[in-house]
Amino acid sequence: MSHSVSYLQDADQPFRFIPVQASTGAHDVDLLAYVLFGLCVVLAFVVAGLIAWFGIRYRAGSTVKRFAPVSEHRAHWIEAIFALVLLAVFLVFFYWGGRLMVDLYRPPADAMTIHVVGKQWMWKLEHPNGAREINTLHVPTGRNVRLDITSQDVIHSFYVPAFRIKHDAVPGLHTTLWFKATQTGEYRMFCAEYCGTNHSRMRGKVVVMAPADYADWLDANGHDQNPVRLGRELFRTYGCSGCHMGRSAVHAPKLAGIYGRSIALADGRTVVADQAYIRDSILQPKKQVAAGFAPIMPSFAGRISESELQQIIAYIRSLKPGDWATAGEGGD
Ligand code: CUA
Repeated sequence: MSHSVSYLQDADQPFRFIPVQASTGAHDVDLLAYVLFGLCVVLAFVVAGLIAWFGIRYRAGSTVKRFAPVSEHRAHWIEAIFALVLLAVFLVFFYWGGRLMVDLYRPPADAMTIHVVGKQWMWKLEHPNGAREINTLHVPTGRNVRLDITSQDVIHSFYVPAFRIKHDAVPGLHTTLWFKATQTGEYRMFCAEYCGTNHSRMRGKVVVMAPADYADWLDANGHDQNPVRLGRELFRTYGCSGCHMGRSAVHAPKLAGIYGRSIALADGRTVVADQAYIRDSILQPKKQVAAGFAPIMPSFAGRISESELQQIIAYIRSLKPGDWATAGEGGD
């Protein structure tokens, strides 16, 4: 961390035309922007220069020799060549920009995934090992990072200027962005979509660390994120406990000790209650209804993240046949 620089305070920084570049994508985006900008400046000078020159040289009363009008045939050729050259320039930039946009929105296959949830008014972040943080995102350098972005209330927009990435966080939709950080340091992160009273305070920082420092950070912050404990919380948050706990009056399969057992299904098949079965039962409950039960459970597909699924399954797996047998047990 010794070479890290914080880019959080403008006052500490030398003046910059644009934000510092801290990702591989930032270089690509800036190159295109600079070339477009440079071309516009050159064209602006050419056009303004010609207007001034013609205006002075051919002003009213000037005795300078004027050209004879060109023939119509020749004028058409001049116009055609002019249009085709402009079209060619346009197509070059269209291809360049389109290619860049596709690259920026399609994460490489080897990218690690970090879940991003926007909420009035904070960013909630979750790492692959379950480590969670709010309004601060720790990432390693030199590693492709894919952000799986969604919102739990209104539309927000996740924006890290130093990485040149920005994407809306939309409720009910998972959007992705990716980046590969190149410079250790601290960079600003914003919500870039007006989302209510405290929109302006919905900001944070990205802390880019050397890979070894990031691994240490994950270890230090992930160890108390016990999946069984988190799954137990989710079991209540999502309302599973309302029907599936030992003391519930609802006629639903009680889950204590169910993991690994054989289950007779209503359609006559028998399955083992393993990871895949429980996952399917949460996402597509009507696909495999246990014998003797009505198909009344709603699907949780789209409402529950993969990591939450893993945590709930870890919790169900940890349950013993006698759990919840006495009042006060089972997490309420
Ligand atoms: Cu969230 Cu603006």
